[in-house]
Amino acid sequence: ARYFALIPAAGVGSRMGGATPKQYLSLSGVPILQHTVDAFLNTPQIAHTAVVVSAEDGYVDDALGVSSLARADLSVFRCGGDTRKESVRNGLEALKNLPGLEIAEDDWVLVHDAARPGLTPALIAKLIQQVADHAVGGLLALPVVDTVKRVAGGTVTTVPRDGLWLAQTPQMFRYRVLCDALDAASEVTDEASAIEAAGLVPLLVEGHARNLKVTLPSDLALAQLYVSGQND
Ligand code: C5P
Repeated sequence: ARYFALIPAAGVGSRMGGATPKQYLSLSGVPILQHTVDAFLNTPQIAHTAVVVSAEDGYVDDALGVSSLARADLSVFRCGGDTRKESVRNGLEALKNLPGLEIAEDDWVLVHDAARPGLTPALIAKLIQQVADHAVGGLLALPVVDTVKRVAGGTVTTVPRDGLWLAQTPQMFRYRVLCDALDAASEVTDEASAIEAAGLVPLLVEGHARNLKVTLPSDLALAQLYVSGQND
């Protein structure tokens, strides 16, 4: 089976504020999306990388630049949806229809947030290595280290952190399994949720703090530190 990367990048990044969607903000003079795409383009196991943007996206051509856009192993699909799940599902369909690729039902797809520019080829290789023989698939995730509180109904309780993990991406599943799980799932914020809802058990592989998702303005400085190589 081959390995494909699918990068949903069709969000508007409302929690970041500002007019430019967060995946197009620059870190060390390079757009976040380019950092993210580069991690896959520099991973030899990845057969093809596809980015999903919205139909009206006006940034992607500048953000990726000619040297990336000219590559035969990179595609940009303008089929983003209203939710991340829809963007991923539409991207999976577009992958299937890409001439010459002939994606097989049991090929692996690594879905990765555009807004995680700290991903490295080493982390991708670690995920692939640990999941390639797994029956279901898996994802990068981090064990929870803080004490977790639940605030609800006027009370505060402490949730035991044993067994709690924070999901990262990439999330890696076989093409057909992932399509079917997403079709059957209600609204989910990651692929693994859809897999779990289908009664399957994904493998959690320890990720890294540098693979943070840029969500709030304060995340930018930290992401900057990681991509500039000063802190890994
Ligand atoms: O908003 P959030 O940070 O959870 O988004 C995660 C990823 O999903 C981002 O890379 C974002 O661009 C993408 N996304 C998308 N289509 C949407 C919403 C989010 O591709 N409708």
